[in-house]
Amino acid sequence: MFNFFLPFKAKEKLSVRPKHIAIIMDGNGRWAKKRLMPRISGHRKGLESVRTVISQCNELNIPFLTLFAFSTENWLRPQKEVNFLMSLFWDAMKKESPALNKHNIRFKLIGDRKVLTKKLIDKVNNLEKMTKKNTGLTLSIAMNYGGKWDILYALKAHQKKYHSNKSFTERSLAKNLSLNFAPDPDLLIRTGGEKRISNFLIWQVAYTELYFTETLWPDFNKKAFIEALLEFQRRERRYGKTSEQL
Ligand code: IPE
Ligand code: IPE
Ligand code: MG
Repeated sequence: MFNFFLPFKAKEKLSVRPKHIAIIMDGNGRWAKKRLMPRISGHRKGLESVRTVISQCNELNIPFLTLFAFSTENWLRPQKEVNFLMSLFWDAMKKESPALNKHNIRFKLIGDRKVLTKKLIDKVNNLEKMTKKNTGLTLSIAMNYGGKWDILYALKAHQKKYHSNKSFTERSLAKNLSLNFAPDPDLLIRTGGEKRISNFLIWQVAYTELYFTETLWPDFNKKAFIEALLEFQRRERRYGKTSEQL
């Protein structure tokens, strides 16, 4: 049990800590539209929320945070927006790398790297290597990520290795999924009001607590994050059992 300072007068104390939080960061475009600004300014502002949740996870000793930054479907957006998102990601990696090391954060990228530019992948490899030995928060950024791609990739990796000589189990599939270094998420947060998974971690969220909020991603601040954690600790996770068995 642990208590820590809450940024607002909460009636409840935060005492249950998820090990792994995954977030679908949605609503940047609508945030900008509301202000008659171009969609890209929503993405830029969204980066501040990224910093907030990373520092919160760090402060609260949450070991794993996985952020959905760009889906395999997001290539369908206007080319200008896609280019902007890619360069925003590159700039953020460049700018934040000293802070990641300073805070003992291990950086990972999950997603299909094949179609990402060499410039981007070089930076990713560099950052992964540089933060490899860090023992604090593991921050995974899902970039060109799709849950269906992830499962198919794991299947192919298994086939390639064993040529159907070894039986295929849940465990062997999970071993080849892109988040094989982390436990399945305890909590999935989606901002922006939509109640769907949008091809995020479809295998790994089988028993995850889902939290949907109307708050748009650029408005998702420390208070909104703590509210999600408080809601999470109110949930009873039964994994198929009855309440009485817990
Ligand atoms: C999420 O915000 C960011 C990405 C998908 C890259 P959106 O850009 O989807 O914002 P809305 O949903 O249009 O408001
Ligand atoms: C999901 O958001 C992908 C990311 C947050 C990166 P979208 O805005 O692309 O999702 P849909 O298309 O509304 O389902
Ligand atoms: Mg969206």
